[in-house]
Amino acid sequence: MSKNICFIDGLEGILKYREIDINQLVDLSYDAVSYLLIQGELPGDKELAEYSARLQGEREINREVMDVIRMYKLNIDAMEALRTVVSFISQFDPDLNDSSTEANMRKSIRLIAKIPTIIAAYYRVASGKEPVPPDRSLSHGANFLYMIRGSKPSKLEAEVIEKDFILSAEHELNASTFSSRVTASTLADLYSAVVSGLCTLKGPLHGGARAEVMTMIQEIACPENAEKYILEKMGKKEKIMGFGHRVYKTYDPRGTLFKQLSKQLAEAKGDMHWYETAEVIENTVVRELVEKKGKPIYPNVDFYSAVIYMYMDIPPQLATSIFAIGRVSGWIAHSFDQYEKKKIIRPRAFMLDEC
Ligand SMILES: CC(C)(COP(=O)(O)OP(=O)(O)OC[C@H]1O[C@@H](n2cnc3c(N)ncnc32)[C@H](O)[C@@H]1OP(=O)(O)O)[C@@H](O)C(=O)NCCC(=O)NCCS
Repeated sequence: MSKNICFIDGLEGILKYREIDINQLVDLSYDAVSYLLIQGELPGDKELAEYSARLQGEREINREVMDVIRMYKLNIDAMEALRTVVSFISQFDPDLNDSSTEANMRKSIRLIAKIPTIIAAYYRVASGKEPVPPDRSLSHGANFLYMIRGSKPSKLEAEVIEKDFILSAEHELNASTFSSRVTASTLADLYSAVVSGLCTLKGPLHGGARAEVMTMIQEIACPENAEKYILEKMGKKEKIMGFGHRVYKTYDPRGTLFKQLSKQLAEAKGDMHWYETAEVIENTVVRELVEKKGKPIYPNVDFYSAVIYMYMDIPPQLATSIFAIGRVSGWIAHSFDQYEKKKIIRPRAFMLDEC
């Protein structure tokens, strides 16, 4: 029997993909973790080399796709471009309507490989620059940063973005994965399942929270302003983005890892002010909501990952789409699971009352 795609203990703050703790997985490559999620087992050296080579070989996008990307306006959320372009590229996939396991694997590789290229090309064009073609010699993370910047990232930045993709890759039946599963349950093709996931990830209560955290921290600007800003927001009964989770009632283990990574980046850049601003926000929220009111509202996956993007000069408009670069492997793993079940998901309306 195949291992569960994901295990979460929301009270103890434990997260595993295919029975392996996230604290172990975070030191692997994204390719290895993506293979684990989709195939159910970690790859051996030979399988990993083959899988990585196939991903690297599928990174390019064709001229027609570039033409569509060039039609996008400046300064939109990259998710708007991404959901349309992923839908558009399906027509070029020779396996689109072949639902065999082998064809689905080929489509998975194309989707995982091309999504970073689409986002980077959109970003370059929207910034008035020429797109940078992918570099096959670079890892999934390093290549993405290279394509958005036009220069190779530092070793630390490449490691951090790779870990960001890994930590974002899978989280059981979150809203976007549920959407993907519902679409796959109708036996619609894999591109349709991934587009469903993208549309759902966009919302500010899900993946969109990351961009809102970045905007909030930029608005606060320095550690000295943070406490007053958060108390005022709470006084107006507004939610603080990047905090709280439907499943975790303690620290989100991804949030803890992201906090360590953002500190490492801050130290390497010799600029602690975004990190320290975030820490004051965290301390204020935990003091006011957890300690004083007993509500289990801790930093979630979107909080310190937003700080990481700020240190890497990634603009808020790209934040949710970068989440999708990681999460696509989870959507695919769940879609495959659903294809095997061959059973449509059709809840009754009264079940919505429990959501
Ligand atoms: C993630 C989220 C949607 C979970 O929602 P949920 O499980 O339905 O939690 P609830 O909305 O029932 O929250 C429970 C209580 O905590 C409060 N709360 C939850 N998240 C909060 C936040 N981020 N800031 C302030 N208060 C919050 C709620 O107002 C509610 O208070 P009440 O009992 O007085 O009404 C919610 O925490 C949220 O909106 N967070 C901000 C958006 C975000 O970061 N999303 C990314 C998730 S990974």
